[in-house]
Amino acid sequence: IKKIGVLTSGGDSPGMNAAIRSVVRTCAYMKVDCVGIYRGYQGMIEGDFKPMDARSVNNIINKGGTILKSARCDGFRTPEGRKKAYEQLKAEGIDAFVVIGGDGSFTGAMVFNQEYHFPIIGIPGTIDNDIFGTSNTVGFDTAMNTVVEVIDKIRDTASSHNRLFFVEVMGRDVGHIALNVGVGAGAEEILIPEANRGLERLLESLKRSKKSGKSSSIVVVAEGDKIGKSVFELKEYVEEHLPIYDVRVSVLGHMQRGGAPSCYDRVLASRMGVKAVESLLEGQTNFMVGIQNNKIILTPISKAIKGHTKIDKELIRVSEIMTT
Ligand code: F6P
Repeated sequence: IKKIGVLTSGGDSPGMNAAIRSVVRTCAYMKVDCVGIYRGYQGMIEGDFKPMDARSVNNIINKGGTILKSARCDGFRTPEGRKKAYEQLKAEGIDAFVVIGGDGSFTGAMVFNQEYHFPIIGIPGTIDNDIFGTSNTVGFDTAMNTVVEVIDKIRDTASSHNRLFFVEVMGRDVGHIALNVGVGAGAEEILIPEANRGLERLLESLKRSKKSGKSSSIVVVAEGDKIGKSVFELKEYVEEHLPIYDVRVSVLGHMQRGGAPSCYDRVLASRMGVKAVESLLEGQTNFMVGIQNNKIILTPISKAIKGHTKIDKELIRVSEIMTT
């Protein structure tokens, strides 16, 4: 392998730049060429490439977002799109790539590898932490810290007005962000898709907490929660059934994906980038780099895509005890 491409794909996450930097610098260290592929698979199809050397990634380890830009690309889902991408890679002399993204990005890479036997390695980059084969994805830690900081602020105003807040956080179909920030920010209740305990229980818990003398309450709601109501419907429901509460809603949205990456995410991304390039140079392909028990490991990308992340049951129990 003489030339490695690197791209970011799907929803961005803090720490993607640190991962790009690591891939580029490891290539420089190993004396192989590196090419940045802009706008994910869309840029691959269009040949939006730029050679990168160790100096192209100065001063980006601390930056949120991705300097390579990202996109969700429909074209790469089609054989024609992948053929174009292959032709562009060949024309540029790229003979392997590292894709930093989530499971959609990995699925694309896997199919591409099957069709063209093109060496690929994935680095998990998403705030959702919904990738099997790693205890942490790049961006998850930063997003949690961002959300905890915001909920602390919401708590200030909530307690000044004796209000109840429903705070909706991202996470797509899983509740990893919600559960962790719920515990970290001392939420009254945490509603996650993995543990739907119904509306009755929520009302009971809110009643109990009011009685016990709490002046404000924060309920963290994962966007993928399946309690059957949106946060706005939840507000109406509680106002109707528990008029003792003055309720507000805060949907945190895309701010959760921005900001400077935490030290943890920067270190994780740096470690993963080194492993990705080293693995390609050792002839490994179709793997995702992950971290388990603080060890950097490889998982077959097919497993990373198909496997399901498991919510931390022990943390659910902790959250229940903490809301007493
Ligand atoms: O996967 C990351 C994520 O931020 C999810 O938490 C969220 O559901 C989704 O992306 C939002 O996607 P978009 O950027 O397309 O609005």
